[in-house]
Amino acid sequence: MGCIGAHAIGLERGSDRLISLNEPLLYRDLKGIAGYVLDLLDIGRMRFCNPHALTKFFIINSLRQRTGARTFIEAGTNKGTTAARCARVFERVVTVELDADLARTSTRFLRNRSNVLVVCGDALSVIPRVIESQRLDRILVFLDAHAPLWGTANGGPPEPALDELNRLADYKDRICGVIVDDFRNFGAAPGFPSRSCLVSAAEAFCADGDFTFNVHLDQLIIERKRP
Ligand SMILES: C[S@@+](CC[C@H](N)C(=O)[O-])C[C@H]1O[C@@H](n2cnc3c(N)ncnc32)[C@H](O)[C@@H]1O
Repeated sequence: MGCIGAHAIGLERGSDRLISLNEPLLYRDLKGIAGYVLDLLDIGRMRFCNPHALTKFFIINSLRQRTGARTFIEAGTNKGTTAARCARVFERVVTVELDADLARTSTRFLRNRSNVLVVCGDALSVIPRVIESQRLDRILVFLDAHAPLWGTANGGPPEPALDELNRLADYKDRICGVIVDDFRNFGAAPGFPSRSCLVSAAEAFCADGDFTFNVHLDQLIIERKRP
């Protein structure tokens, strides 16, 4: 794939039919701020359900600051909004998207971010390979690759987070934290594993005592303990 700025791998040349999704980041930022304000209002009214995208970024950035993570790995790029925000605060960003059109569109959107690598493929197999091949370290992983709730790619299980977490266990020494998005959908959305299975997987990940986990604002957050 001839890529335009952000590096891209795993893509073949093809149509850019989704290019209309490629709004400028400023527009996304304004939308993000509006969503964040709504989240604050909902928290104030005690009727918060799930965070908007900018709130999720603040959660990611807060974990980065607490753990000293330098590399952000995202399962599920979609339009590249979170990858773009994270590119401002992480040294390196690797984002994996199964849908080739979305991967192509987000590569264009992220073209000015020289620290971003967009990979087209299944996050379950791509993430371990990228950690090895790019020798990634001090990693924060954001698991947000799930089957279409509103028309994006499929090809694997509806929500592969459990398998992804199990695979990541082999790289614990390089990981500062893991966030699993959309906790509310586990045991609720069609085909998603149960919450008890997700919590068990998190407990297994933390079993050796180096990590702890919590559920906060619809995110399951696994965090390396500070010495
Ligand atoms: C909720 S969206 C991701 C949003 C994005 N993380 C953000 O915050 O801007 C989920 C994305 O995961 C992608 N996806 C689904 N299964 C996947 C898989 N096995 N590997 C990689 N991406 C996948 C979908 O195509 C979709 O674009």
